[in-house]
Amino acid sequence: MKVAIASKRLDEVVADAVLAGLYADEKKLPDGLARLDRASGGQVRRVLEAEQFKAKAGQVTHLHANGRRIVVAGLGPRAETTAEVLRRAAAAGARRARDLGARALAAEVLGDRLPARQRAQALVEGALLGTYGFERYRREKAERAVGALTVVEPDARRARDVADGVHRGETFARATALARDLVNTPAKDLSPTDLARVAVRLAKEQRLAVRVYDRAECRRLGMGAFLGVAAGSAEPPKFVHLTYSPGGRPAGRARKRIALVGKGVTFDSGGLDLKTSEGMLRMKYDMAGAAAVLGIMGALPALRPPVEVHGLIAATENMPSGSATRPGDVLRAMNGTTIEVGNTDAEGRLTLADALCYAVRRVEADEIVDVATLTGACVVALGPLCAGLMANDAALAGRLLRAAEAAGEPCWQLPLIDEYKEHLKSEVADLNNVGPRGGGAITAGLFLKEFAGATRWAHLDVAGPAFTEKDLPLAPKGATGVAVRTLLTYLTAE
Ligand code: BES
Ligand code: MN
Ligand code: ZN
Repeated sequence: MKVAIASKRLDEVVADAVLAGLYADEKKLPDGLARLDRASGGQVRRVLEAEQFKAKAGQVTHLHANGRRIVVAGLGPRAETTAEVLRRAAAAGARRARDLGARALAAEVLGDRLPARQRAQALVEGALLGTYGFERYRREKAERAVGALTVVEPDARRARDVADGVHRGETFARATALARDLVNTPAKDLSPTDLARVAVRLAKEQRLAVRVYDRAECRRLGMGAFLGVAAGSAEPPKFVHLTYSPGGRPAGRARKRIALVGKGVTFDSGGLDLKTSEGMLRMKYDMAGAAAVLGIMGALPALRPPVEVHGLIAATENMPSGSATRPGDVLRAMNGTTIEVGNTDAEGRLTLADALCYAVRRVEADEIVDVATLTGACVVALGPLCAGLMANDAALAGRLLRAAEAAGEPCWQLPLIDEYKEHLKSEVADLNNVGPRGGGAITAGLFLKEFAGATRWAHLDVAGPAFTEKDLPLAPKGATGVAVRTLLTYLTAE
């Protein structure tokens, strides 16, 4: 979907569908709708009355007038307007326009309660995310698609803010869609090598620096934990390091340096501790953290935040074979910590351990945020819509929670209870990679914490929200691209 801006009124713009918002319980039609109503000889009002349209948040209705479709999205009570209400209204409205066969959609900047910049961003994010589809493997591609979205803003004083918001919304949504595409792609077509290729392509297109380490180079770096996971796979592992520098060149120590680490297990069979068929079914999604990091890195040059950002991915499959790591084996991470593999299915933390060491030692990051589909326990604790946040720094955790709230991506902090560290005790090594069942998300967090050392660090467990089994307001079944918008919000709020 192409996105453009027009400094016209909704009734003047050329489009085969127009989208306008309506607050609940308001007698008077807002300006855009009122004009459409007049131009249609009062049809808009008649339809809304005949249908007793309540304009609840999420509700949509439509009519045909003057040869085009008029879509009206309910915004709920004005006083309860949030960016998320506007995103969902835009998503539902754009889907309705699409389902009615519209190719070109014009939309007003919905609502009037938040700053125009924020509303414009929500509108574009919602329209793009709400009409996302993954068609790569279908013979028959969906024939109904909105090819163009024109954001209409008649007030010239707002043009600047609206343009800004539209640009942000488009960038956020495209980054999210890239992450979704990568996660939706079957593991067969998205190996660690493919993932690294995507990183190299992004670097070329977006002027990021990139370095990809192969197995031998990772061995030289001492990444024994990561390579232990890769040992069973016929696909070679890759360690990816992308760098975004403001202004295009490294600024030395003057700027804050943030490392984003994404879990990049392109398929998690469990290894020798093989998963059940049901448990394995969705495990192409186990690189959703890496996909989010790639989406984010690709978007940074367009957003130009004044911080240096490093994207790190230890990409591998987790497979059983004659060369696979065995339960009971001891691995040595890059910082020298030895790890007894109590369970080969707790592989994510092994790959992340070395990526965190790299962020601390090689990148010398001021701050690290990792994103990982790490534990089924986090899904049990918080359900399928909410990410778990753990951190060794309260201020960093607070900033991430605020960013998640603004992005409309639910996120809840779990406590890193020190006493539970004894759950990770090993008879033979410094650490065991698994503990008892209870508090599994926290145990995993405590394990990772060991590798962040004194560096400020936060961990997002997105095992629940990375994939959806049913259509959501902003995402159809499948990958959601979770954490992309939260972290872009976070990085651009610095
Ligand atoms: N990728 C999984 C996490 C996962 C499991 C996500 C189930 C969604 C549903 C991870 O690598 C894993 O297998 N974790 C194990 C850890 C356990 C062996 C300590 C889990 O959560 O069952
Ligand atoms: Mn696993
Ligand atoms: Zn996994």
